[in-house]
Amino acid sequence: MKYITIIGGKDKEGMPENISLDLAVGTVTALVGPTGSGKSRLLADIEWLAQGDTPTGRYVLVDGFTPASEERFLTAGKLVAQLSQNMNFVMDASVGDFLRLHAESRAAERLSRSIGTLVASVIQQANQLAGEPLTADMPLTALSGGQSRSLMIADVAFLSESPIVLIDEIENAGIDRRSALSLLISKEKIVLIATHDPMLTLMADQRLVIRNGSIRKILHTSSREKDILVTLEMRHRELDTLQQALRLGLEL
Ligand SMILES: Nc1ncnc2c1ncn2[C@@H]1O[C@H](COP(=O)(O)OP(=O)(O)OP(=O)(O)O)[C@@H](O)[C@H]1O
Ligand SMILES: [Mg+2]
Repeated sequence: MKYITIIGGKDKEGMPENISLDLAVGTVTALVGPTGSGKSRLLADIEWLAQGDTPTGRYVLVDGFTPASEERFLTAGKLVAQLSQNMNFVMDASVGDFLRLHAESRAAERLSRSIGTLVASVIQQANQLAGEPLTADMPLTALSGGQSRSLMIADVAFLSESPIVLIDEIENAGIDRRSALSLLISKEKIVLIATHDPMLTLMADQRLVIRNGSIRKILHTSSREKDILVTLEMRHRELDTLQQALRLGLEL
C-alpha cells in the first residue's frame, strides 16, 4: 500500500465537502478542530474504509481503488492500527501473554530477534512513556489508563505491520505524548492524529482543519511554525520537570 484517498462527503448540515485528498506513506497529518467537529468521525471513516455508508458520506480509496466489498472488513483490520480515545482491556491475560500473542501472530517471522527479547523491549518502551512501571506478569485489567495507553502505543510501534496508524487524543493519559508520537512516526506509515495539543499539531507535516463535520482547510506546517515548535518543546520540558517533581512529592 502506498497511499489512501479521502473523497469528501457532506458536513453536518448536508453541505458538500469539496475535497479529494491523497495521504501517502511517510506523512503525518494532524486533525484539528473544536470538540464535536468530527475529528474522531474522520478517523473512523478511514478505519472502516468508508464507502458512502457512514454519517459523512465520505469514500476512502486504497492506492486509488475502491476496496472490494467482501475484502473490506478483512483488509481494514490489516491496514489500520487504531489508538482510540477510550481504551480498556477486557482480556483475561497478563501483559507478557498478551504481547507474546501479538509478537507470534504479527511480526515474529519477519524479525530476527526472539519473542522474549521483543516482548521485553515493548515493555521497556512502554515504561519510558508511562509513570509507575508495568511488568510482564501484571494482569492487563490491573493497568491504569496511562499504562494501558503506553502499552498499546509500544505494541503498535514495535509489533504492528499495519501501514495506517490512527491516533485519537493521546493528551489526557498522563503519558509522554511527544515521545509517543515520535515512536509512532515511521517512513512506511500513514499517521493521522486527532489532537487539541499545539505541540503534537506542529509535529505533523500538515493539518486538516475540521469544522461542523467536514474538512475545511489543509495547512502545511511552515518553517516558522517548526521554529515555534522548538520554543514550545523548551517550555514543555520546563513544565515536565515541574510535573515530575510534584508527582514525586517534592516541594518546589
Ligand atoms: N459530516 C458529518 N455528518 C453527520 N454527523 C457527523 C459528521 N461529522 C461528525 N459527525 C458526528 O458528530 C459527532 C461529533 O463528532 P466527533 O466525535 O468526531 O467529534 P471530535 O472532533 O472527535 O470531538 P472531540 O474533540 O471532543 O473528541 C459524532 O456523533 C459524529 O458522528
Ligand atoms: Mg474525538
